[in-house]
Order: sequence, then structure tokens, then C-alpha cells
Amino acid sequence: AVASSPAGSLPAAFFPPTTPADFTRADFGPRFYWGASTAAYQTEGAWQHQGKEASIWDDFTRRKGVIQRGEHGRVATDFYHRYEQDLDLAQAMGLTDFRFSVSWPRVLPKGVGATNRRGLDFYDRLVDACLERDLRPWLTLYHWDLPSALQARGGWTNRSIVGWFADYAATMAHHLGDRVNHWLVLNEPMAFVGAGHLLGVHAPGRRHLGAFLAAAHHATLAQAEGGRALRAALPATAQIGTTFSCSYLTPHRPDSARDVAATRRADAVLNRFFVEPTLGLGYPTEELPALRWLLARYQQPGDEARLAFDFDFWGVQNYTREVVRFSPWLPPQWASLVPARQRGVACSDMDWEVYPESIYHMLKQFSAYENAPPLVITEAGAAFPDVCQDGRVADHARRAYLQAAIGQTLRAQREGVPVEGFFAWSLTDNFEWAAGYAPRFGLVHIDYETQQRTLKDSGHWYRQFLTAPHLAR
Ligand code: NOJ
Repeated sequence: AVASSPAGSLPAAFFPPTTPADFTRADFGPRFYWGASTAAYQTEGAWQHQGKEASIWDDFTRRKGVIQRGEHGRVATDFYHRYEQDLDLAQAMGLTDFRFSVSWPRVLPKGVGATNRRGLDFYDRLVDACLERDLRPWLTLYHWDLPSALQARGGWTNRSIVGWFADYAATMAHHLGDRVNHWLVLNEPMAFVGAGHLLGVHAPGRRHLGAFLAAAHHATLAQAEGGRALRAALPATAQIGTTFSCSYLTPHRPDSARDVAATRRADAVLNRFFVEPTLGLGYPTEELPALRWLLARYQQPGDEARLAFDFDFWGVQNYTREVVRFSPWLPPQWASLVPARQRGVACSDMDWEVYPESIYHMLKQFSAYENAPPLVITEAGAAFPDVCQDGRVADHARRAYLQAAIGQTLRAQREGVPVEGFFAWSLTDNFEWAAGYAPRFGLVHIDYETQQRTLKDSGHWYRQFLTAPHLAR
């Protein structure tokens, strides 16, 4: 079977015939983390198994018209039952690290209160299976699947979530702190706050400025409070981080002062909003003065100090760049993104511009903060079609992108950026949220009819890169 490529995408044409990498794993140093990332709702399935209760994604995917083809994560890649096989593949690829997330309603079905022993047991088995394979587990506490029971109480718009989340963080730390050394508090807060509460395209599907602002402030508080809860409960050697989405931004017309100013405002929203409060810098209100009074409703005395937390590392997650132009009709940002399709550039199956250089620019931008912690690329990757033939999965464009993304990481490291690891998104194909199963990001192909796993050419390339004998150089 040959997977067809969605109209207009340029998977193979964009990249020249693969040129060998002009760098090796050894260039990154012996302690560099090499991983792949996954997330609970996108892979686990087992949505009602062994005491798990619903999350907002179980609910959201039941709504008509919100997910492509009406797809959902009830089975997904059946990671809940097949994790050993997937970890075998991760080990065979030569990975040293594996990132997954915990489904909050699996371990705390109501979000607070009684834990679900069988849910905790699953993560015990998963962590032990990682360790048996010499894969360091990296645990993300929140990758978007909020317990429905908490959504019924307002979810991220209710300030009590800061305490609910801190309690959940402490529960996981007490349970797995003896075996998990790398912890991530939130996955891409701007994504779940913005897409979930302002754009309405992700769970819980709200489209409301007030909900967005409340959720944004509470997520920023929870980010720091979650860090503190982990610090209090984990051994002193634990590494506590959190992840940020980001996109390198350039003005549509570089000589237009209004486009340049719009780009600065978009940067404040997309790249700085959740980052700067952790450093004690507060929100980027200099670029967005309206934020001051917009957020005031949700702030309490002392909040600014509580937003800060001394993370051991930041997880940087990057997929593309964006081009920004001034839009007078779009308050309060007065900026809009020019869709990549309109710009006529090469795009992935997500309609995102293929622009691996963005990784380099964002590493430079984040490391430029005074007191920035070390950085880890906790996600980078691309959705391209897979061509499956005779047991082989040819994914030339993904393999080229992966090589380029790693190359851009090295470019930053060579310029002195303290970047300590690279995690490909994703280990396997999985449920890509509102886009369903069509966009494939995996290094491992999933046949959703049979749940058969096949290492793609990109995965073979990663394995060769990680295990080649020149390592000793
Ligand atoms: C970032 C998110 O963390 C992940 O869940 C998603 O699948 C990838 N981006 C690709 O869109």
C-alpha cells in the first residue's frame, strides 16, 4: 500500500537527495540525552481500563465536527498494552532516554482525592521497563488530559487548580521519585491554554477571552507551584523542568515598522508569556500593555513572586517558524500569522513550513536570558507521508528533517548554547489531536488496523546515527 500525500505537500521534492550528516553523535559530547517523546492521550488508549476515568480529551473527541474524521484516542496505539514492544524499539534504536506523560485521571480518577492503584501500577511497570532497557524515563505530569471531574469544576479557569495540580505532582513524586530522575511539569502551556480556551480547537473547546486569561494565569502559577511540589518531594538529585512551545518569528515585510512591531507582540505571546514569569520577570507587558489590566482580574497580591521557579532545565519544543504581519482588525494583539501555504513555501502535512533553522534561533533566544537554565530539545519532528512497501517504510522527508533538526541543535551548541539533549517527536505515529491519525510523526510506523509496528527509514537513520562505531571519536 502506498500512502498518498495530501494535496499540495512537497515531502520528497523539498529535500535534495539525502546528504550524509557532516557531524556525528560524538560531537554532542558523551552525556548528551538522546530520546524520543510520547504522550498519554496520544498513545495509551485503554481509556476506561482499570479504574481510569474520563479526561477532557475523552469528552472533547465525542463532540461532532471537532476532530478530523471523528477520530479519538480510545484505542490510539494501544501503548497501555504494547509499551514493552515500543520500548524494545526505542532501545534497539540506541536511545538513552524516553519521554512519556502520565494520564492524571488514570492515577487520580477524580483529579483529587483517592488514587487508583491499578493506574499507578501501570506507570510503575512502564518506568521499570524503561530502566530494564537502560532508558532513562522522563515523566511529563500534564500533557493536556485533564480529569473531566476537574473540568466540571472549571478546570484551568478555576484558581483551585493550582492546588489540585500541586497535590497530583506530589503524589507522582512520592510514587516514582525513587526511579524517575527527570520530571517535566507542563507540556506546552500556550498550546493547551490558547487552543483549548481561546481558539476552541482543543479540549475543553472554549472560545472565550476571559477563560483564556484565567487559564493562562493559573497555568503559569501551576507551572511554578508544580515545580515546588516536586522539589519538596523528590531527592535532591532530581532534575525538574518544564516545556515550552516556540516558533522563530520573522516579519512579513522586514522594512515595515508595523510588521516588525507586530512580530515583537507575537513573540511576547508565543515565545515569552510562560517563560519570563519563571525567571521572576513577570508577564511581557511591555510589549502588550493591555495584558496588565486584562490579567489584573485574575491576579492576587503576591502572585508575581509565586510565578517564579528555579527550573533545572527548560524543554524547548519547536516545529516551524512563523511569519507575522500587522492586522489592525485583530485586537488585542494586532498581529496575525501568514499561513505557510499562502507563502508558497515547502510544508509538512500539518501545513507548517519546513524550517529546521527555527530550532537554532529559539535555542539562541532562550539561552540569551540571564539565569536561563540549560536547555533540552524535548520535541522536534515533522509529519510527512509514509510510503509502505514490502515491509519497508520510506519516509525520506522525515529522515532529512530529523538530520537537519539535530544539525541545528549542534549549530547552537557550537556557539555556546548549553543544550543537553534532543528528543524526537515521536517514537511512534499517534493521535495528533484535532488532526486525528492522518499526520504521522513517528520514527516507528503504526498500522492502525493491526497495531503492527515497523521501524521507518528515519528510525533506521536515527539508530545508525546513535550506534555507529565512530562514536569513539
Ligand atoms: C507538540 C505537542 O506536545 C504534541 O502533543 C504534538 O503531537 C506535537 N506538538 C505535534 O503537533
